Order: sequence, then C-alpha cells, then structure tokens
Amino acid sequence: MDPQPPPPLLKRVRASIWRAPLRPRTDRDRVRLAMNDLILHLHPPRVPRAAIAWSYTFGLGGLAVLLLVVLIGTGVLLMFAYTPSEQDAYASVVALETEVWFGQMIRNLHHWSGNLLLIVAGLHMLRVFYTGAHRSPREFNWQLGLLLLGLVALGNFTGYLLPWDQLAYWAVTVAHSMLAYVPLIGDPLGDLLIGGEEVSGATLRNFFALHVILIPLGFLVVGSFHIWRVRKDKFSQPRRLDDADPDGPQMVTTIPHLVSREVVFALVVLALLLGWSSFVDAPLGSAANPNDPPNPTKAAWYFMGVQELLLHFHPTFGAFIIPAFTVVALVALPYLPEDAPAEGILVSVAAGAAPGSPERGAGRLAVVGGSCCAKPAKPAGLAALPAQ
Ligand code: HEM
Repeated sequence: MDPQPPPPLLKRVRASIWRAPLRPRTDRDRVRLAMNDLILHLHPPRVPRAAIAWSYTFGLGGLAVLLLVVLIGTGVLLMFAYTPSEQDAYASVVALETEVWFGQMIRNLHHWSGNLLLIVAGLHMLRVFYTGAHRSPREFNWQLGLLLLGLVALGNFTGYLLPWDQLAYWAVTVAHSMLAYVPLIGDPLGDLLIGGEEVSGATLRNFFALHVILIPLGFLVVGSFHIWRVRKDKFSQPRRLDDADPDGPQMVTTIPHLVSREVVFALVVLALLLGWSSFVDAPLGSAANPNDPPNPTKAAWYFMGVQELLLHFHPTFGAFIIPAFTVVALVALPYLPEDAPAEGILVSVAAGAAPGSPERGAGRLAVVGGSCCAKPAKPAGLAALPAQ
C-alpha cells in the first residue's frame, strides 16, 4: 500500500493548536454532544468523588427516579386496557392478564415498582437522615422529599383500588373508617375522597383521576424541584474522620464517573425487576362484593401499622395523634437544635490497617446526625480511635 501523503501544512498547523475538532464532525460526535448536554442539564459537570460512593448514597435517590420512570411507562400501557367503571374495571384487569400480550407482565411491573418505590423512598429518607444531609442548607429539600413520600403513599393507595377486587374494596373501606377518627375534618374529608359515604363507583372515578392525573403531575412538579435543589444545595459528602482535607474534596467529572455507575445500576435493577415480575404475579382477588366482607378485613400493608395501633390505643390516638405527631416530627427534624457534632460518616475503616488486625475493627465508627455546613468540632469519641 502507498504511504499516505502528509496533510497540507496549514492543516498540520491547525491540528497542532486544536487537537480535537471544535465542532462535531461525525454523526457519532453529534449524538454524544447532544447526550452529554442533556446529562449536564441534570447533573453538575463535576462532583465530589466521596459523594457518589455506593456506601454513601446506596444509589437510592437514583433508584427512586428509575422506578418512577418504570411506573409512568407501564402505567401508560395499562391505560390502553383498563376501564375505570364499577361494572367493567375487574373484567378489564382479568382480560388484560389473560388476553393481552405481556399484559400480566406489564401489570406485575407496575405493581411491584410501586410497592418497591415506597420502600426505596423510605430507605432513601433514612440514608439522608443518618448522613446528616437533611441539615442546612438542605432543610427545604427534606420537606420536598416528605411531599414526595406522601405522593408515593397516595399513588400506591389510589392504585390499590383500581382492580376493584375484594382486597382493594375492603382495604379502602378500612382506610375510610380510619379517617373518620380524625377530629373535625375526618368525616367530611373521607366522604369527599370516596365520593359519598361508602366505597362505590364514584370512589373508583375519584381514585382513577387522582392516580393517573393529579399524582403524576405532583411527581413531575415536586420531583423536578427536588432534583434541581439537590444540585443547587450541592451534594452532601461524608466527612473524613481525621477532618484533614486541606485541598478541599477531590472532584471527578460526572461523565463518565457518575453516569457510568447510574447506567450499570439502572440495567441491573431493571434486569432484577423483570426477573421478579416474570415469576411473581401481582395479587388479584375475586371481584369486589360490598355484601361479603372478608374476615379479617385488612388495610394495604403500608397502612397496617396504623391499623395495628388501633388495636392498642384509643382510635383518636392510633389513627390521628400518633400519625400526626410523626408527621410534625419529620417536618421539624432538620430545624431542631443540633446536639451531635458529626455529619455524614456512616462507617469508616482505619486507613492502612491490615485486614484482620485489631486496629481495623477498632477503626469502625458510626456517627449520626449533626450539621452539614458549619464545621463541627471533632466528636469526643474520635480521640479514642487509632491514628490513621
Ligand atoms: C419519589 C421519591 C424521591 C425521589 C425520586 C428522590 C430523588 C433524589 C435524588 C435523585 C437525589 C440525589 C441522589 C441521592 O442523594 O441519592 C436525592 C437527594 C436527596 N433527597 Fe430525595 N428523593 C425522593 C424522596 C425523598 C425523601 C422521602 C426525602 C426525605 C424526607 C428526600 C430528601 C433528600 C435530600 C435531603 C437529598 C440531598 C441528599 C444529599 O445531598 O446527600 N428525598 N433525592
């Protein structure tokens, strides 16, 4: 083969100044530029290495976003088969499961993603709390998170009724009777929600409108706000035990460090979710029958705690005072005075200690709460740690 002639001098001079073309030349470069642009609208260009460690966030916030996407995708598909009426709802779900290609699978994915989201959002809240990330400047984002948790519970609850089977009918009846224990507003609020004094076709229409329009809109607005605030408030980070970080946190570029983790994690979770949904079907009882209450009538699993409280306390305490106190405590949490000085250290291992050596075990420490912005004093317990 003849050797290639060298490029003209001017081209060589230009290439010596700009190594890569300033504007994308190939389709591949154009696609990459557009994708990177999109990613950098959602994420900052650089993130602290420690803030994206698995052991710090466990990927729970991202997992919640992924589950929301799965819920919206499968929810839209379900709408093609579902009929929101007292007479036809149950039959349409049975037809979806037996006559529609992949209908059972799509219902399973929707059902399990919704239930999993409730657990994931709860765990994410715990992770935020245990790393002290709810403190200044993220107090407001904590409140947005609580709103999201409320929307997740409401989304699951309204969706539960839609198949119009015995499980659903009686779970909503139980929840309606619990609401009646709330002083003053309990009764009118309950009746407004279910569109009358008993669960009926009007309840199904109300719940359907909430489930497919208002709650997803709420997620869109509050969820976008939440993620925007994560960026604006800056990612919280685990603080080093020795507190010595003279050069500031080590930063890495979002592409590829964060994005590659997100993609791998999303693919693994999707594979697991698909696997689970292939083998475990979403429950469906017999068609709702208002004259045949099952014994015992059970609330949905996430309200069973409240149902249990009713067995042990006066109903006003079990259904109102304890839940209301819990909500007020959660809202107030980021503003309470700080008594623990440390932030963001869940687990730390003494650096350099050989596996199995006593220092290695001794260096583990769990610290909870504290401020994320004011530079806290070294916790007293640290003095006892082996030198790192
Ligand atoms: C549908 C529910 C939720 C979604 C989709 C969501 C999404 C996210 C995402 C993507 C992040 C950044 C990554 C991470 O820290 O893992 C994040 C951070 C955060 N979330 Fe949530 N979240 C939800 C619920 C909650 C709840 C229930 C709370 C607390 C009540 C909360 C409070 C926060 C706070 C304070 C941060 C900043 C944490 C930090 O910088 O370390 N979120 N959320």
